Amino acid sequence: MSKIMDGKGIRVGVLGATGTVGQRFITLLANHPFFIIHALGASARSAGKPYSKAANWKQTTPIPSIVRDIIVHECKPEHFENCTVVFSGLDAEVAGDIESAFRAADLAVFSNAKNYRRDPSVPLVVPLVNASHLSMIPQQQALHQPPLKRGFVLTNANCSTTGLVIPLHALEKSFGPIESCIVTTMQAISGGGYPGVPSLDIIDNVVPYIGGEEEKMEWEVLKILGGITQGDDGLKTFDMHARNPLRVSASCNRVPVIDGHMMTVSVRFARRPPPSPQHVREALVAFTPEAQSIGCPSAPVHAIFVHEDPDRPQPRLDRYYQDGAGVSVGRVRQCPVLDIKFVVLANNVSIGAATSSIINAELAISKGFVKAPSVQ
Ligand SMILES: NC(=O)c1ccc[n+]([C@@H]2O[C@H](COP(=O)([O-])OP(=O)(O)OC[C@H]3O[C@@H](n4cnc5c(N)ncnc54)[C@H](OP(=O)(O)O)[C@@H]3O)[C@@H](O)[C@H]2O)c1
Repeated sequence: MSKIMDGKGIRVGVLGATGTVGQRFITLLANHPFFIIHALGASARSAGKPYSKAANWKQTTPIPSIVRDIIVHECKPEHFENCTVVFSGLDAEVAGDIESAFRAADLAVFSNAKNYRRDPSVPLVVPLVNASHLSMIPQQQALHQPPLKRGFVLTNANCSTTGLVIPLHALEKSFGPIESCIVTTMQAISGGGYPGVPSLDIIDNVVPYIGGEEEKMEWEVLKILGGITQGDDGLKTFDMHARNPLRVSASCNRVPVIDGHMMTVSVRFARRPPPSPQHVREALVAFTPEAQSIGCPSAPVHAIFVHEDPDRPQPRLDRYYQDGAGVSVGRVRQCPVLDIKFVVLANNVSIGAATSSIINAELAISKGFVKAPSVQ
């Protein structure tokens, strides 16, 4: 990675560049040590316009000057020919076909959409948790007709799943399998993209339903926290945590917060007696993901901050912890029904979306799954 950072770079494209996640990609990539924004894509409504006119910019920092005049294209591989990597913040309605076309054009696609998360040869990776799942990429390339040399799709998780699995993984690393988890989310409006829930429905209100979200959380946790097994035929399979079955119950709510998904979590460990709240706090603080130890530049320096104040974390105060790349945990205490309960806050557009994709791409480079012709 240091060679790439040594004055050279890798050309990348952003699909869905005008949307909520796309804008966060632009903000992060504009300052990236080796990714160079080369092409931008969105719908036919935006195509042909300079980015500054196509995007309804909603970030708190100005549009980076390097993208203002880039002409937005439709999301067709021929417009992204000189890119090695594309980051996708595409609407799920269109992401399936478009991402598949980019993979077939031998590009490495890092997606935020749900379309390929359940595909048995597509890694579903939260980069602070299951970087080892990148090992499925060669199988995905070999199964493609014709087999691919460089192209693949790798997805990151639903934004709420991401906030949940980071502390759960840290706890499983220290204390062994978790067997039950009950989670209740308080999810920010930006999680639904722009313009999202109408203001008259969300101000002074809580909406106790987010379509498909609970099913996504309950399923994705198993794929991410599970391992990979290899059959006698040599084919690898995601084991869905089957060696130690894990039951997850999620209740998802939309709350009038702009950015930052908060959730209350209760867990039961397989091991008896379970760890104490103090041991849980220490394990969360000590957690060091592989992305951090191998030096991915976008990985947080500290993955999990554990608050001692009883009224933290809070979205307005804590959503920018580690520029949104880390998660905040608080109120770690005994649970009278399961074993331990706590509160988590994760920035849904950063570690819940764009930041995860970028760290995933950094991991793929570091592990040799993306081989890029560098540019000066
Ligand atoms: N927001 C979050 O916190 C979050 C977190 C994790 C994952 N995700 C996922 O990330 C994806 C993007 O979410 P978002 O919140 O950024 O949505 P969004 O704000 O609605 O943006 C959607 C993007 O898709 C583009 N698009 C729509 N129709 C298209 C078409 N026919 N062809 C090409 N591009 C098209 C839009 O371009 P135009 O501007 O030209 O219409 C826009 O750039 C979704 O799959 C979402 O589920 C979102």
